[in-house]
Formats: sequence, C-alpha cells, structure tokens
Amino acid sequence: MAETSAAISSMLVENRVFEPHPALVAQARVSGMDAYRALCAEAEADFEGFWARRARELLHWHKPFTQVLDESNKPFYKWFQDGELNASYNCLDRHMGTPVENKTAIIFEADDGAVTRVTYKEVLARVSRFANALKSLGVKKGDRVVIYMPMTIEGIVAMQACARIGATHSVVFGGFSAGALKDRIQDAGAVAVITANFQMRGGKELPLKSIVDEAIGMGGCESVRHVVVFQRTATACNMVAGRDVWMHELLAGQSDECPPEVVGAEHPLFILYTSGSTGKPKGVQHSTGGYLLWAKQTMLWTFDLKDSDVFWCTADIGWITGHTYVAYGPLAAGATQIVFEGVPTYPNAGRFWQMIERHGCTIFYTAPTAIRSLIKASDTDEKVHPKNWNLSTLRILGSVGEPINPEAWMWYYKHVGGERCPIVDTFWQTETGGHMITPLPGATPLVPGSCTLPLPGIFAAIVDEQGNDMPNGQGGILVVKKPWPSMIRTIWGDPERFKKSYFPEELKGYYLAGDGAVRSEDRGYFRITGRIDDVLNVSGHRMGTMEIESALVAKTDLVAEAAVVGRPDDLTGEAIVAFVVLKRPLPQGEEAKQIANELRNWVAKEIGPIAKPKDIRFGENLPKTRSGKIMRRLLRAIARGEAITQDVSTLENPHILEQLARNN
Ligand code: WTA
Repeated sequence: MAETSAAISSMLVENRVFEPHPALVAQARVSGMDAYRALCAEAEADFEGFWARRARELLHWHKPFTQVLDESNKPFYKWFQDGELNASYNCLDRHMGTPVENKTAIIFEADDGAVTRVTYKEVLARVSRFANALKSLGVKKGDRVVIYMPMTIEGIVAMQACARIGATHSVVFGGFSAGALKDRIQDAGAVAVITANFQMRGGKELPLKSIVDEAIGMGGCESVRHVVVFQRTATACNMVAGRDVWMHELLAGQSDECPPEVVGAEHPLFILYTSGSTGKPKGVQHSTGGYLLWAKQTMLWTFDLKDSDVFWCTADIGWITGHTYVAYGPLAAGATQIVFEGVPTYPNAGRFWQMIERHGCTIFYTAPTAIRSLIKASDTDEKVHPKNWNLSTLRILGSVGEPINPEAWMWYYKHVGGERCPIVDTFWQTETGGHMITPLPGATPLVPGSCTLPLPGIFAAIVDEQGNDMPNGQGGILVVKKPWPSMIRTIWGDPERFKKSYFPEELKGYYLAGDGAVRSEDRGYFRITGRIDDVLNVSGHRMGTMEIESALVAKTDLVAEAAVVGRPDDLTGEAIVAFVVLKRPLPQGEEAKQIANELRNWVAKEIGPIAKPKDIRFGENLPKTRSGKIMRRLLRAIARGEAITQDVSTLENPHILEQLARNN
C-alpha cells in the first residue's frame, strides 16, 4: 500500500484531464459544456431575469416578488425584497401531496450504527411540533436561538423549527468550548439555547449541556431565558429550575400542525459565526429567499440530483456546509439523505465506505482532510481500504472546505469512485451561502486540484490589488464582480465591518473572497492557492490567527506575547504554529514541553480542540521591525523550517530568530 502512495504522488506533476462519462452527460440536468455555456450566457444577457426565473421556478412564494435586485444601498444588496415565503414550508410542506411525501427524508446512522429513517411527512410533523414547543416558550419571529447540538435528526428539526416560526438560528459547532459559545450567545443576543445532554462521538460520551451551563455562567448571556435539552444518552445532567427544560417534556402534547410564519425574502434565516482576520468571530447573516434559492439550485446543478439519489454530505450542522447541504438544500430539493452522528474512524477507518454500501449512497460529499486521513489509514491497514466494500452505487463524489491536493484527488477518484464518478471540487465559503466555483458532473472536464469554473450567474474573477483583471496563468486576488442571491447580507451587529471586510474601496465594489487564485492558461480553470488574510484552514476548519493569539495572551500568568502562523501539513492541510514569549525565563527541555502542553490545553479550553497549536515555540521576543510590527513572513518561514534568506537588517532583534527556530 505504501507503494500505492508513492505511485499516486508521482502523478502530481501531470495535468490530466478527465472528461465526464457519456452515460452521465446523457442524463444530466446540465448536459455538456454547451448547456453550461448557454446558462452562463443567459445570466450575462439578462442578469436579473436569470435569477428571477429560477426563484419563481424553484421556490414557493406566499407573496410573489416584483423586484429582483435592489442595489440602492450597495453593498447591502437586497434580493426579491418584497416577496414573502417560509424556508421550512419550502423544505417540507411543499412536498406534501406529491410522491415525496412518503419518501425517506433522512437515514440517520448513530455513532453505534443504529439506523433511524424518517419520511418527509414525519419530518414535517416533528418540525411543526418543535415549532409549537418553541412558541410555547415565547420564542417568536425575529428572536435569535442558539443551537449547540450533535449531528442528529433533532438538530435539523431544531433548525427547521426556528425557520418555521421566523426565529433566526445560530448553530454553534459542538466542538467549540464554553468561552467560544458564550461569545456567540452574547453577540447574537439569543433568547434560547437548544442543546443535548451529551453527544456520542467515536464511542465516547462527550458533554454539551455542562458546557452550555458554563458558558451562561460566565455572565453576559442574560438574554437567554430557556435552555431546551435533548436527551441523547441516559446519563444525568444538571438542570436549572425555571430555565432548563427537557425536549421530550416540552414536545409532549404539542400539536404536529403549525402554520408557517411567512417572512420577507430578506428576513435573516440564520447567523453563522466564522473566523476573520481579527480576534472576534464574525456573525455572517444570511437571508431567507436568496439563500434557499441557491441551496436548492446548487443541489440540482452541482450534484445533478435525481429522485432516486441517496445523498450524503458528511459535514456537521455547525458549519456552513452542514447548513446548506444537510439542513436546507437536500430537503428543499426533496432528496433522501444520510445523516451521520459519528466520526469517520470509528469503529475503524472503513466506516464511510461501510455506510456507503449499507445505505446505497449515490452522491458522497466530504472534505479533503477526511480523505487524506482515510488514505493514510488504508495505507497501513488493508482491511479499511475502500476496495473491501461495494461502492458501485456511487455516481458523483464531492470535495469541499480546502484545496484538494492532486494525489488525494486521484485516490478518491480511483478507489472510491471506481474511475467512473466525477469529483465536484466545490469552492465556496460561509459568506457565499452555497457553491461558487465547481465542476458540473455532466459537463465539465475535470483537472485534479482545480475547482474549474464558476457556476452560471456567478461572476468570479482574479484581479490585482486595484481590481484590474489578471491574465490567465498569473495569480491574484479572487473576487466576485456581481452580487448573487445567497451572498452574506451583513455581519450581525457590525455593518461597517461587513463593508470593510468584503467590499474594500480599492476593489471597485467587487466582493473580496479572501483567497488567492490562479486561472489555467489553457482552459481558464480556477485553482485556489489559499487564504491571503490571517485566516488558517486546518482540517477544513477556518481559524483566525488573531483568535488563537488572543486566546494565548489571555493566559495572563504565563504569556506575554504570541504570534500564530500556519504551515503546510500533509494531513490537516495547514497546521497551527504558535510563537510565544513567556513572562518567565526561556524554558528548556521538559519544562518547555510541559508549558507547551499547558498552553495547548488552554487554547482547547478557550476556543475548542480544533484550535490547538500543533507546534509551540518559545523565544525571548518576537521578530519585529523597528516600528514594532511583528514580521509574520519571517515567522512563516521559520514555521516551515526554511532557511531565512530575506533581509533581516530592519529587524530590531535578529538573534531571537535562532531561538524561535529551535523545536522545543
Ligand atoms: C477554503 C467552507 C480550495 C477557502 C465551505 C475558503 C476551499 C474557505 C474550497 C471557506 C475548495 C473552501 N478549494 N479552498 N474547494 N472550499 N475552501 O467558510 O480558503 O468554512 O475561503 O466554508 O475554505 O471556509 P468556510
């Protein structure tokens, strides 16, 4: 198997092209490149008409819109503004009386392998009951509700129930710590938190409710009136009288009919916090109409969804991928989807393949980091190699969250897709709401490592720092020149930051993605080269370097100063390296190891385990210019173990470079 890895790596250099399979092209929704180009031309010729047609065709409007795009207050674009709808109605009620009504909506596989199936009709009843339960607590349209839940049917039901009553949800990933949860509850001003007593991951029972208690106990969360607790496991948890209520008790006796609250198209469906280049996470605010339109349209285009498909997106509902391609897109499109509670390596690293076989999965959408770890596992243990399972039901594979390296692409293509399934390498972001640049399975010739071309209606481009187009072959800044329906509307509570972060004046009003990219000379295909700001991508999770730095310096008894950078990592894409100046003499050997460990655990407690630095280096100071600016470029070179070739003459304190380069 090690031999396979070597063979795969050697393919890195070649630029192979994989034409879509004729059988797939023949029955695809967007069939062939001419069909793709025709859609692009339609959007070019009649931009608003293009979107209006799709919005009318794909969504049910309780009140039809008359205006498509309102650009009067750029960059606060409004879409379908005077239209009214309900997201939950569009995902559930709309299928009633059609064959989808009794179709399986969710195949839920628990951590221990137990399977539960629910039909669309049943999901509607559960969502309605939950919506009534929320109403009974006084939660109403416009309120914010934080959801801190494991991957469960209940988590999706909670999101849909909020949408049903017009409450804006903010899902916080179950791996975030109390401090991070508190910040998000506080910023959103949530009136309720929905959680579970515990979550099950990899055979372990992990607390959720006690973290909610801790977060609220930190102060600043006075807006929270209720905590609703789903009983996932039998283990007891603390319940605060008057504030906390068991979900099953709250649901008992609730009617399973709840008329949807019809909202304006621009009504905030959800807020989702993500990392930016300052210490404070940004509450990305999404709309109802435009967001849902793109969630559904991309299900149909990017995944070429058919009635008979069994769709599986492995993302957690705590991330945008789990919003658009678990909680909303598949339901809006009437798909059968798999929802998985656990982790890909439990009980062994064959779990994904086993589940694909077991449930007859046809479309599989996961992250490069998962693929890389499963390659590694099957290189050392043949028993977990995908060849041990029947994966013949698969027809389309997807990748999301970070660049997929060509060798991982090739392995995925060959060993999971049997050289028959196209891989849609979907580039997008929390802020974009849905896919932006991606191949279409029945049209686009694939090049490993490239997300290929923008979807019709998405005017992506690569520009220089003044917003001028770059020629193909030359790298630059990735922008989107025109607004699109599912774009971020604002940063919750901070419209100025929204403007500054995404629409900087020098870029001619284009949307700034924050990534660098280059287009190939032959096909004009996009390849994402990585973030150009202080955001890291570790295992597909977005982390702000400043966020981690703030966490480190919050350890006031130990840390005087900290700087965090990323370094390429074979498994996690990027790894976090922290340079730390302590408030005590430079530690050596065992002492240094012990302090590094203490700091790692501290960061896990402050933000969450995903933010733990892989490598911590100590120095008596950080490399700074004479004006006091930390020279991050230098730190990046040190983190990568590169020789310092740049001019360090402006450096205040050159001798510390050697200290920092030392691995503790
Ligand atoms: C990166 C996840 C390369 C990129 C949906 C982006 C990608 C950030 C890809 C957004 C891809 C996402 N190829 N890079 N296919 N998809 N990224 O907000 O740096 O968690 O800006 O959204 O992930 O991460 P986010």
